[in-house]
Amino acid sequence: MEIKYNRQENAFMLNNGHVSYAFSVEQDRYLMHRYFGRSIRECSRISQPYFFDRGFCSNPIPEERTFSLDTLPQEYPDMNQGDFRNPAYVIQTADGRRVTRFYYKDYRIMNGKPELAGLPSVYAEEESEAMALCVTLEDETMNARIELYYTIFRDYDAICRHVEVVNQGDQELYLERLMSMSMDLPGTDYDVLTMTGGHMDEKNINRRPLCSDAVVAESIRGCSSPQATPCLILMEKEAGESYGQVWGINFVYSGDFQAVAQAGQYKSTRVQMGMNPLTFGWSLKAQERFVSPETVMVYSGEGLNGMSQTFHELYRKRLCRGKHRDQIRPVLLNSWEAFGFEVDEEKCLSLAIEAAKLGVELFVVDDGWFKNRMDDKKALGDWVEDKEKFPSGICQLAESIREIGMEFGIWFEPEMISPDSDLYRSHPDWVIRSPRHAPVLSRYQYVLDLSNPEVCDYVVRSMSGLLEAAKITYVKWDMNRHMTDLGSSYLEGSRQRELSHRYMLGLYSILERLNQMFPEVLFEGCSSGGGRYDAGMLYYMPQTWTSDNSDAVCRMKIQYGTSILFPPVTMGAHVSVVPNLQVGRVTPLDTRFAVAMSGNLGYEMDFCHLPEEEKEEIREQIAFYKDIREVVQKGRFYRLLNPQEGNRAAWNFVSEDGNTVVYCYYQILSEAVRVNLPVRLKGLDLDGLYRLQENGSYYGGDELMYAGITSEPVRKDFTSHIYIFKKEGGNER
Ligand code: DGJ
Repeated sequence: MEIKYNRQENAFMLNNGHVSYAFSVEQDRYLMHRYFGRSIRECSRISQPYFFDRGFCSNPIPEERTFSLDTLPQEYPDMNQGDFRNPAYVIQTADGRRVTRFYYKDYRIMNGKPELAGLPSVYAEEESEAMALCVTLEDETMNARIELYYTIFRDYDAICRHVEVVNQGDQELYLERLMSMSMDLPGTDYDVLTMTGGHMDEKNINRRPLCSDAVVAESIRGCSSPQATPCLILMEKEAGESYGQVWGINFVYSGDFQAVAQAGQYKSTRVQMGMNPLTFGWSLKAQERFVSPETVMVYSGEGLNGMSQTFHELYRKRLCRGKHRDQIRPVLLNSWEAFGFEVDEEKCLSLAIEAAKLGVELFVVDDGWFKNRMDDKKALGDWVEDKEKFPSGICQLAESIREIGMEFGIWFEPEMISPDSDLYRSHPDWVIRSPRHAPVLSRYQYVLDLSNPEVCDYVVRSMSGLLEAAKITYVKWDMNRHMTDLGSSYLEGSRQRELSHRYMLGLYSILERLNQMFPEVLFEGCSSGGGRYDAGMLYYMPQTWTSDNSDAVCRMKIQYGTSILFPPVTMGAHVSVVPNLQVGRVTPLDTRFAVAMSGNLGYEMDFCHLPEEEKEEIREQIAFYKDIREVVQKGRFYRLLNPQEGNRAAWNFVSEDGNTVVYCYYQILSEAVRVNLPVRLKGLDLDGLYRLQENGSYYGGDELMYAGITSEPVRKDFTSHIYIFKKEGGNER
């Protein structure tokens, strides 16, 4: 791993032997992007664009008619100097003008990775793991600096980028747009992959050609959202799941974002990602610094799967934190689909006793445990236990559950407030709203104004009492509405545009404090399912409830899509009852399990009312999962067949030591014309010999990977099969 500065060419190159990233300083002022891709030894001028005298092109250097920023592949472009593609930033001066001239000033190379104050980010545990470059641009007339940060890792094929703006002068500046990264790639012949969806339908994969305009992925919902995912993936046309070049960019942020791939007139592609300029604005006072959120840019020469492998490893090991990062995650039972709001002490205890008998390790009381919470109309914000439902109290319930042999977890929706709550009655001004209009309700609730530190203190205080007293070791952190009425009675008028980002900073500060105060608590993020399943949240909460849709067929599609960026260990996945509560489908218990065991296994059902044979099946499932969960949670994950595209799904896990392979195959609908094409496994040792646990037969790694494995077609809908292979040595049978 190295970061080289070539004085002669005034050029920078970051390289770790797998990926290279290069840019140079042109005319001593302008940053020109040169390269991001597979590691190369040098990136000289041979591959750089020629400049022509072109019509309509502005020439910032009068005597250089062929030099125009509109044609230059830029690294962090501005507006108003003749580049008419999207600018990376727009900064307004105190006199209301938006003309800036930020030119290259200097650079710094550092060992390790710089932290981003107050924001989630990928980290290095030791300085030797990463190197960082900071390149400074300066507008002398404004007395302001833009610092561009780049980090390269020794062990991951990723580059992290973020931006900081420093106001060194005595006049206030206004940041109107500040993208965390911008990059101009040569050509427009890419496919762009984004992920879209909605509540109960998260992470649909969309791939289309860039053509000659722009592809935009964005959210202004106050969170990354189930509708959009803060990522943009460029693929060369020939690239597929396991071959070809792919560039994946992901935002380590949970709020409003914008990601754009824009084709340029001279066949270039500009990619940008950052906070959404529609809901962002920031007054930067004299001598202040603003830090943008981080983007992670991954290059893969081995298709989408190669890209996912890098994101998975990096996020699992250097984004997720705390003791749970490396710990095996417990099998849980969640009360929501069993009881809804009608939880009470008796029901919870009876269910817990059954759950413990079946091998469940963590019992989670979902919504409905606090005072006045009979339905979703009331009480959010008043985190006081309901003594009618839980006469002995939550602490006692937690104690009883520990005595049965399980950990105890609980649900909160800390960012919200019901108008019918004591909190609202005493602090109506703590709600996000404008002073002139009645705020819009959603699920009968408003959003708390987390730009106000007093509100953040309340949230920490209101949760920590119970977390401490009941020795809670798991929290499901829910968030069930999007933001409207963007207004804060805490922020002064000129700062109203800062609300969305300040909300996120407030939320991150709360999570950081709770992480510090309760290191033993495993936090699971949730936003009506995967509505805020993003890299920002994973920094504080190492797992997310993947979707409110627990139907096995829908879930295999959602989990498949989620795996584009996030490793299975971050996915909460539960077996629920049939007919499924969301779609009414009846799927067999073994298939529901085969889908849920591909993440962090849990159950959402009332075991007390299950027939004995189903309970027995569940006992066996849990025991089976415990045997192989290390492979699922810590191994490598390979997508094989995409259920978003066809009637089948398949994937395989390979343990960290390479010795165990878990292969899962699903057929959604039964087919009249029976076909059983082989599925080729991935990530195995070609020379290895693998024993199929089910029947003791042996297969070579080369056979499993190249000839593949067929599954017997069954005349039934919704079938699945899990195969476990153990590697037993060389390729002799
Ligand atoms: C939405 C979540 O996604 C569900 O799992 C459940 O916790 C409900 N909220 C509770 O209100």
